[in-house]
Amino acid sequence: MHEKTKTQVTYEKLCEVIPGGVNSPIRSCRAVGQLPLIPERGIGDLVYDIDGNCFIDYCGSWGPLIHGHADPEILEAVQRKMMLGTTFGMTTAVEEQLARAIITLVPSVEKIRFVSSGTEATMSAARLARGFTGKSIIVKFTGHFHGHNDIFLIKAGSGVTGLNATSTSAGIPDEILRHTACLPFNDLNQTRAYLQAHRDSIAAVILEPVACNMGVVPTQPALMKMLREETEKMGALLIFDEVITGFRLGLRGAQGIYAEKPDLTCFGKIIGGGFPAAAFGGRREIMDHLAPIGKVYQSGTLSGNPVAMEAGLTALKKLERRGFYEELEAKANIITEPVREWLNAHEQIPVGLQQVGSLFTLFFGRRSVQSMEEGQSLDLEGFARFFRYLFSHGVYAPPLQYEAWFVSMAHEEKNLCKTRDLILQYLNSMV
Ligand SMILES: Cc1ncc(COP(=O)(O)O)c(C=O)c1O
Repeated sequence: MHEKTKTQVTYEKLCEVIPGGVNSPIRSCRAVGQLPLIPERGIGDLVYDIDGNCFIDYCGSWGPLIHGHADPEILEAVQRKMMLGTTFGMTTAVEEQLARAIITLVPSVEKIRFVSSGTEATMSAARLARGFTGKSIIVKFTGHFHGHNDIFLIKAGSGVTGLNATSTSAGIPDEILRHTACLPFNDLNQTRAYLQAHRDSIAAVILEPVACNMGVVPTQPALMKMLREETEKMGALLIFDEVITGFRLGLRGAQGIYAEKPDLTCFGKIIGGGFPAAAFGGRREIMDHLAPIGKVYQSGTLSGNPVAMEAGLTALKKLERRGFYEELEAKANIITEPVREWLNAHEQIPVGLQQVGSLFTLFFGRRSVQSMEEGQSLDLEGFARFFRYLFSHGVYAPPLQYEAWFVSMAHEEKNLCKTRDLILQYLNSMV
């Protein structure tokens, strides 16, 4: 009999005291039939597990690590800040610095409030939209993930979409679902028809401008244009959930790609520099509806935590270096360009590649995905086999088909090339 690895023993112990052994379900790697990677340390583009195995990491903590693991400048800034006290429950000067940095870079944001997670950011933005407009319905799209607040854990019901939706989690009363509508993504006509039919009750439309939680699927420009026009006409707010895309797709996030600007934007991940920080912000007249100057209540013991703010500020400053995003995308292209070429030459293989900037997804079972309805027919077992192949060769891809790969500035050319070669080898084995 083989002796158990440290990973096996530790995961068994974790499972005794934490449901499923994880504090966020996806970390269990169940979808890909793999024992979870339990890291001991991360440095640059590498993660070492507690058994000493080394992996090139494309999960990047699901987005925050745009500068890679243990970035020396962020570590230095955080260490300095920590020594002055880690939390006060009082407003601090560094909050103004990070707020101003974001406001300066993202023109649609005139005021901002910090929270600790993306879930809090979207939840608070939805409440603010309801408080500001006096209306109740929040419209979202199937396959877009906005954290785990009750109002967003919803998918379109069969047949008629919109309010006929069902929850994706137990424990959510039907009454709550009645105030969220869920529409198929990138379906312009159905979306317009829904918006026009419910124009008096819609508080906001929320979307990931480039969806990343069904794999990378950009919003079709005509849909974005219509959403902006219709929400404006009906007095509803347009909310961009840029928890992933903010500062990932450029200094203005997805707002730098689309002509349409949102009323409110949710941020997370990168703005915390690897620490728990997120935010929502937008037009001043809307943001001023928040307590203590307005009537929409929202709060948080660790909101605007000075250590997280300092980490975020340092991370953002590093992004402002000229050519940063071009270089980051070029790193992703080391993998994606040859893979795209290979796919173009093998049209019979049902694998697709979709990319925006440094974010990309390889889809197994389809050549392209425009909505979660299409995403339903992906070959999840095929993806799981691919994941395990990469894993067994020291590459950690995001352990779910419906996710984006996160390339960081710390990814070294030799590791990107190794990853590219492994992917091509795997694809060749499919012919
Ligand atoms: C687009 C988007 N919004 C919101 C969230 C929720 O953020 P958090 O996990 O910090 O609560 C996520 C998390 O991955 C996300 O991808």
